[in-house]
Amino acid sequence: MPDLKTKLRHLLERVGPENIWRPIVDKDGSLLVDGHEDMRDGSPDDLARVDFSGKHVLDLGCNYGYYSFLVKRLGAESVVGVDIDAEAIAGCRLLADLYGFTNVEFLISDIINIPLATKFDCAMLVNFIGKRSVCKGIVPILETLRRHSQGEILLTTRIKYNISHNLEASPKQLCEIYGEKYIRAGNLYLVEFIQDFFQDTMVMSFISPDYQDKTLKRTLLFTPSSGSSY
Ligand SMILES: C[S@@+](CC[C@H](N)C(=O)[O-])C[C@H]1O[C@@H](n2cnc3c(N)ncnc32)[C@H](O)[C@@H]1O
Repeated sequence: MPDLKTKLRHLLERVGPENIWRPIVDKDGSLLVDGHEDMRDGSPDDLARVDFSGKHVLDLGCNYGYYSFLVKRLGAESVVGVDIDAEAIAGCRLLADLYGFTNVEFLISDIINIPLATKFDCAMLVNFIGKRSVCKGIVPILETLRRHSQGEILLTTRIKYNISHNLEASPKQLCEIYGEKYIRAGNLYLVEFIQDFFQDTMVMSFISPDYQDKTLKRTLLFTPSSGSSY
């Protein structure tokens, strides 16, 4: 019977680096496999500015659990990671055993249709919103976040997309999805749309720096506005 580390090594060799977004580390912190994503998107320093202590956190599109394990280390009481990729979830479960974490669970599911009625203190969506989902429309994704949070929502996104350079959709198509208010001078102002989507009950703040490179995603934290109830 192969041990935990051998099972993990076989799995990571099988899936290949293109499916691994963030570094995967051993119990002692040494690198097992590097991830291919720019770490300024959802920087651990940004998340360290959020108070996760004692919270129940949902990590949507968790991949190999980088953020699930990070928020657990930052003091979260429990974490549920969700991903549609069964191999990634198998990897997360092996890593949770390797790290000896309790109260960390992983679920194979489409984020739009999670078989959980639970609401969490914080629902997170790191590096999930991208060109493809923007063209399809992100409202179902935002509704998922709202449905599963009784407190905060953390997500990463670009401030705006230049429609002709970045998106395979016409201004007219995007207007039908988002409304003309958010389409100006050839750009789709996505953060404005997201802020307005949650504005009845939540207040937005940026927890990432204002990068020189405007194509980098920013980390947004929505917290309940005073007086809102769930
Ligand atoms: C770009 S990766 C980001 C992963 C992670 N949050 C991070 O920042 O490292 C997106 C992840 O979402 C997963 N995913 C894509 N569509 C999904 C869906 N509809 N439901 C659940 N997971 C999905 C992919 O399998 C992948 O692991």
